[in-house]
Amino acid sequence: MSWGTSKHSLKLSEDGSYTAFSKEYDEHYHSTKDGALQESLLKHVQPAFKIKENQQEINILDICYGLGFNTLATLYYIKKNNLTCRVNIYSPELDATLIDSLDSFTYPKEFEEFRDVILALCNDNIYNDSSLHVEIFVGDAREYIKRFDDKFDIVYQDAFSPSVNPVLWTLEYFLDIKKAMKKDGILTTYSIALKTRLALYENGFNIYINSGKEFRDATVASLSVLDDFLDVDMKHKISCNKDVSPLRD
Ligand SMILES: C[S@@+](CC[C@H](N)C(=O)[O-])C[C@H]1O[C@@H](n2cnc3c(N)ncnc32)[C@H](O)[C@@H]1O
Repeated sequence: MSWGTSKHSLKLSEDGSYTAFSKEYDEHYHSTKDGALQESLLKHVQPAFKIKENQQEINILDICYGLGFNTLATLYYIKKNNLTCRVNIYSPELDATLIDSLDSFTYPKEFEEFRDVILALCNDNIYNDSSLHVEIFVGDAREYIKRFDDKFDIVYQDAFSPSVNPVLWTLEYFLDIKKAMKKDGILTTYSIALKTRLALYENGFNIYINSGKEFRDATVASLSVLDDFLDVDMKHKISCNKDVSPLRD
């Protein structure tokens, strides 16, 4: 349990999996209440794959790699559910020192079988086999997402919170995300803030609630209509909160 960097310390979350605390952002990498593994699975992977798992090839944008839970939980979900889809995951991450440290991070036992992926990503920032491609872009997500057009089926929007990392939650940011996504793409995020939902809504996304007994509510957004989630009445929310506006660059 000795993992840490000059900017990070290890923290046990309530589902028994470890996450990290960022001294730089003064925030945990995951909800310590919901649990790191549970948060990845229930707020990101499960709702996204509920919609996409019958697709033969799935392109995922994982914003941002961090400890890699969303990428690794995706691999775990695919194995556990015997899915045969090909998956390509693209993940920006600013912090090179963090990526370099991940060979000694204390991951949950569910990720043990992906040790080769964890090591390849830590050492070379890339992993390839016949059914999986994962690449980490070490740099700014805002620049990276501009490279893509009509590419992603799934976006895991898992930046630090809007209050400490606002540039990854603005109206302009989500416009670039929208361009990078396919028209029937789905975005998942833990944020239920009206400002976040407005930034998505004003870019044409439909807004849905992802709820369940084991976790606090989260948000699913899609450019197409989804029948599997309860939708948020954004017109009503706006009329009740006239002073709230989306974050801007
Ligand atoms: C909440 S953590 C991501 C958690 C991650 N999904 C996981 O499962 O561990 C946010 C990450 O965003 C990174 N970050 C902050 N600003 C960034 C930017 N502009 N571009 C790329 N990465 C950024 C931070 O270094 C941090 O690792």
